[in-house]
Amino acid sequence: MVTRGEALYRGKVKTIYRTDDENVFIAEFHDDLTAFDGKKKSSLEKKGYYNAKISEKLFRLLESNGIPTHFKDMLSETEMLVDAVQIIPIEVIVRNIAAGSITRKYPVEEGRKLVPPVVVLDYKSDEHGDPMINEDIAVAMGIASMDELGLMRRLALEINQVLIKFLDERGLVLPDFKLEFGRSKKDGRIILADEISADTCRFWDKETGESLDKDVFRNDLGDVGSVYQEIARRIVSEIS
Ligand code: TMP
Ligand code: ASP
Repeated sequence: MVTRGEALYRGKVKTIYRTDDENVFIAEFHDDLTAFDGKKKSSLEKKGYYNAKISEKLFRLLESNGIPTHFKDMLSETEMLVDAVQIIPIEVIVRNIAAGSITRKYPVEEGRKLVPPVVVLDYKSDEHGDPMINEDIAVAMGIASMDELGLMRRLALEINQVLIKFLDERGLVLPDFKLEFGRSKKDGRIILADEISADTCRFWDKETGESLDKDVFRNDLGDVGSVYQEIARRIVSEIS
C-alpha cells in the first residue's frame, strides 16, 4: 500500500503528492473549475471524479497503443498513482479543427479542418501569459533538448491518431487538445504526464456539433455538470 506524503505542487485543479516511493507520486483531481488563466472560477460536484475517470481511460488506451505515460493505477475515485516526473513547462497543443484561440489570433474560421494537424507549443508561465514558443527558444532557454522536443511532437501526433479513432467510435470529434510531458525521475525518459480530460480537450458531438467539454463552462453554454457526466459516460462506458 502506498502512503501519501506532503503536497509537492498545488495546481488549479490537481494536487501532486509525494509518496514513500521517490519514483511515485499521487495526482489528486479536484472539483474546481477555472478558465481564462484562473480569472473565472467555480466548483462542480464530482468534476474531479469525471476527469479522473476520463484520464484513466485515455491513459490506459494510449499505454495499450505503445505510448509511454505516467499512469500507474487508480488509488481511489479521484487519486491517480503516477510515475514521478519533472514536468517540462511546455503545453503541446494539437489541433485538427479550428476552435478557440486560433480563431481569435489568426484569420481562420471556427470549424475549418486543419490538414495536416497543427502542433503548437506554449511556454507555461502565468507571468508571461503562456506565450507561444518554438523549438529554438525552448532549447536556448534550457527547457528541453532538440531531441526531446522532436520526440514530444512525434508522440503528440501519434496520440492524436489513437484518440481520434477511439472517440470517433463513440460519436465524438476531437477539434484540439493539450498535452504535457515530463522527464521520468527514475530513468529520465520523456513520458506523457498531467491529464487528458474534458478540461484539456475539446470534444464535439459528431452529429450535432455540441460542445461536451470545458467550453460549456468558459462560454456559459449550458449545464456544466450534465455535460461532464455525459462526456465521462461516452468515453468510459462503465461509469455511475
Ligand atoms: P485554446 O483554443 O484556448 O488555445 O486551447 C486549445 C486546447 O488546449 C483546448 O482543448 C484547451 C486546451 N488548453 C488547456 O488545456 N490549457 C490551457 O492552458 C490552454 C491555453 C489550452
Ligand atoms: N487559459 C485557458 C482557458 O482560459 C486555460 C484553461 O483551460 O483554463 O481556458
